[in-house]
Amino acid sequence: MCGIVGYIGHRNCFPILIKGLKRVEYRGYDSVGLALLSRDSFEVFKKVGKVNELEGEISNLSSNSCLGIAHTRWATHGGITEENAHPHVDCSKGIAIVHNGIIENCNELKEELILKGHTFLSETDSEIIAHILEEEYKSNKDYIKATLNTVSKLKGSFALLAVIKDLELIIGARLDSPLTIGIGKDEYFVSSDILSFIEYTDDVIFLNNREVCFIKRDSLTLMNFDGSEIKRDIVKVAKELSDLSNKVFEHYTLKEIHEQTQVVRLALLQDEKRFKTFLEGIKRAKKIYFTGCGTSYHACVLATYLLAKFPKLTSEALIASEFDSIFELIDKDTLLIAISQSGETADLLSCVREAKAKGAKVFALVNNVNSSLVREVDLFLPLNCGPEVGVAATKSFIAQLALLYLISLSLKGDNSMIKELYNLSNSIEEVLKLEEDIKRLALKYKDSKDFYFIGRALHYPIALEGALKLKELSYIHAEGLAAGELKHGPLALISDGTPTLAINPSDETYQRTLNNASEMKARGAKIIGLSDENNSLYDDFIKIPKVMEVFYPIIEVIPLQLLAYYVTLQRKLNPDYPRNLAKSVTVP
Ligand code: G6P
Repeated sequence: MCGIVGYIGHRNCFPILIKGLKRVEYRGYDSVGLALLSRDSFEVFKKVGKVNELEGEISNLSSNSCLGIAHTRWATHGGITEENAHPHVDCSKGIAIVHNGIIENCNELKEELILKGHTFLSETDSEIIAHILEEEYKSNKDYIKATLNTVSKLKGSFALLAVIKDLELIIGARLDSPLTIGIGKDEYFVSSDILSFIEYTDDVIFLNNREVCFIKRDSLTLMNFDGSEIKRDIVKVAKELSDLSNKVFEHYTLKEIHEQTQVVRLALLQDEKRFKTFLEGIKRAKKIYFTGCGTSYHACVLATYLLAKFPKLTSEALIASEFDSIFELIDKDTLLIAISQSGETADLLSCVREAKAKGAKVFALVNNVNSSLVREVDLFLPLNCGPEVGVAATKSFIAQLALLYLISLSLKGDNSMIKELYNLSNSIEEVLKLEEDIKRLALKYKDSKDFYFIGRALHYPIALEGALKLKELSYIHAEGLAAGELKHGPLALISDGTPTLAINPSDETYQRTLNNASEMKARGAKIIGLSDENNSLYDDFIKIPKVMEVFYPIIEVIPLQLLAYYVTLQRKLNPDYPRNLAKSVTVP
């Protein structure tokens, strides 16, 4: 994971790097650091913690540096310490590097370097890059050769930036982790994500796998790892991405929950021709698989229910990291539909590559239309929900669900239900008015040790999602359970006062879920009913508006997001930055 940012040009780069880092902080926030190069100095600053902590410490730095690289870390190799924070420097302290990814052969490379007399200051895999570059640059004084030789030695995945003290340029390289260059007037930006620099320029070049770049203030050179030069067209990206302000809301997570009133409508805005081709692809496929991670996987589970319910198609959902167990079954008659907010999740990308290699068609539903996923699949549909910054996925989930409903209902050809789908925004507005009730519930249950969410059929993936939101934000142990499975094990966990939230709107699952909730109550559980109909069984009740039966999943997940958010606030934690997590998981 990790986010990397670089700038070279005519402005003071410190504020540009800091702002850029804040935009990629969703990729990790264990530690932060930057290296600034100017004519008379080369300085490295680093700190355990978030970007604003480092910014606060060195804000009165009157740096006149117009060239710098920076990093925000999600620890993989080595603990969360200042030594392990990036940038890492070589022995001569004349080279600094930042890295996102994992260097798989770092141990053997490190042994070789130690034999050559190099000293290591960190436990990271990344530091070896600085030392290899030092070796290579020392022996031939040619930074291009040195870079190409360095990347040829690295196995694993990386996006990296490097600066060399006596050279006015930024070196970049990419293998499987994203790296994008923003082009200004006599200035360049480079980052893991265009969000870092979108307000400065919307002209970008995406570096592809196995490519390096050499960025000077007035020129940009791209090369393959074999040294052959590449010409690449500049792409214009959507400027509206720059609206990332969080003025009205205390946290991005809350802002994004509230944006959900618009999200369904936006997700349904699809290019007609592209959408039709997507549907044709589904109709043609003999085998259909959905894959995703985290919240996106929960959308995959719902997708299989929707395809079964409406166009009556068989499909299967698999977590991306589990997909290799069925790779034998993938062939040219297979359609794999990858679902992702970021389009950069490493497990998902490797699944996509493997499926393509086996001749399968690969489609995607994705929010980040500039992502690696978009460039690797045969066809994608955008979620259109705008940048999602909060680490916990919220609005992207609603967008995924809306689009999956649209696909399933269109395959069935049910226009009247599609019309109803467009009208859901009003009901979402109503659900958001439950905020005060949810705050009271959050106060009541904030000290729970365990929390269960139960639901049947379409509500089961929502139970999974409710539990994921609560555990990732509040650190309360939570599980989403298929209500019918309780008696096969989970009932043993219930003791006096265990809160259980029953997702139970009045549809065909109503009575059976109520029976399961009653079995839990008989064993001491406190039941929170989430429904359009109250029942005397419930100790607490969250009343959601009535909508067409099949659309309840879109409505009912919102109170669960709010519950997770407010429990987290009650526990004095920051919902935007849960410990140990990152929004975009770019390591396998
Ligand atoms: C991380 C995030 C989750 C997200 C998952 C999949 O674990 O913390 O919120 O659901 O990755 O991400 P994607 O971008 O592929 O949807």
